[in-house]
Amino acid sequence: MEIKKICVLGAGLMGNGITQVCAQAGYEVAMRDIEQRFIDGGMSSIRKNLARDVEKAKRTQADMDAILGRIKPMLDLKAAAADADLIVEVVIEVMDIKKKVYEELEKIVKPECLFFTNTSGLSITELAAVTSRPAKFIGTHFFNPVPVMKLLEIIRGYETSDETLEIAKEWGKSIGKEVIVVNEAPAFAVNRVLCVMLNEAFYVLGEGIAGPEDIDKGMVLGCNHPIGPLGLSDLVGLETLLRVVEGLHKELGDKYRPAPLLVKLVRAGRYGRKTGKGVYDYTAKK
Ligand code: 3HC
Repeated sequence: MEIKKICVLGAGLMGNGITQVCAQAGYEVAMRDIEQRFIDGGMSSIRKNLARDVEKAKRTQADMDAILGRIKPMLDLKAAAADADLIVEVVIEVMDIKKKVYEELEKIVKPECLFFTNTSGLSITELAAVTSRPAKFIGTHFFNPVPVMKLLEIIRGYETSDETLEIAKEWGKSIGKEVIVVNEAPAFAVNRVLCVMLNEAFYVLGEGIAGPEDIDKGMVLGCNHPIGPLGLSDLVGLETLLRVVEGLHKELGDKYRPAPLLVKLVRAGRYGRKTGKGVYDYTAKK
């Protein structure tokens, strides 16, 4: 099956990144969100990223214009999804909201349309089960910032067909990603390992063992990580991190008990870079 038209559902942090890499690879992409301000935010990120590449002479202005020309920002779900060969769903990490979106999509999309879900940890099998096409359903977990990070983690649900897996792997390569394939398990492979470290960093901070800068500096200089765990949590979004950790806690037990400080920061609306404040305050740097 040839993929030409892609519909990305969600224009946020991950959605606009996925839209950008797909359009860069030559696909026609409808990027849909539920409010104009989300779409405007997504398009502004894509423009900023591409303009930075032009400034650095990594691509030409003509190339940037052609990429933008392949992106159709949309509010209307039907118009965005009806002729898509592939839906990449990047809706908020709440199982019931994602399920509702699939129920709506079922009434709109072509019978052969594939469903790829970007989730940090929700069950692919459970999501696929609300559709009439669980064999055409697969998890495609991207990493933030999407245009920079090389990895695409592909997660096979219980009913995912070999054919869908092969198409997903080829598609991943076509958008410039290195692919790993994992079987479904809570938070898959990467987040299962990563989130235990990120959550632990909030315990270390909350228990007063070290300040945020020193915890981050320790992991950067002591372990060669490109960014410390608290800075990375701000990049990922504390509310997203908490959702994954809560999911892991529910499925795998106490090892993943959310750190009280992480919970508190989320309750305070300190989601990280996207809201201007998380562990760190970014408002002065704007
Ligand atoms: N979008 C596009 N490009 C970006 C970007 C963004 N948001 N942020 C940085 N870049 C580009 C820069 O333009 C620069 O490009 P160049 O090499 O061509 O000049 C390059 O990335 C490096 O950027 P900077 O020099 O500004 O800054 P750093 O060297 O500090 O790199 C970083 C920034 C790439 C974000 C780096 O800190 C890093 O790799 N951090 C780790 C990121 C990570 O671990 N992500 C995974 C998170 S987990 C996840 O997403 C899963 C989820 O389910 C929780």
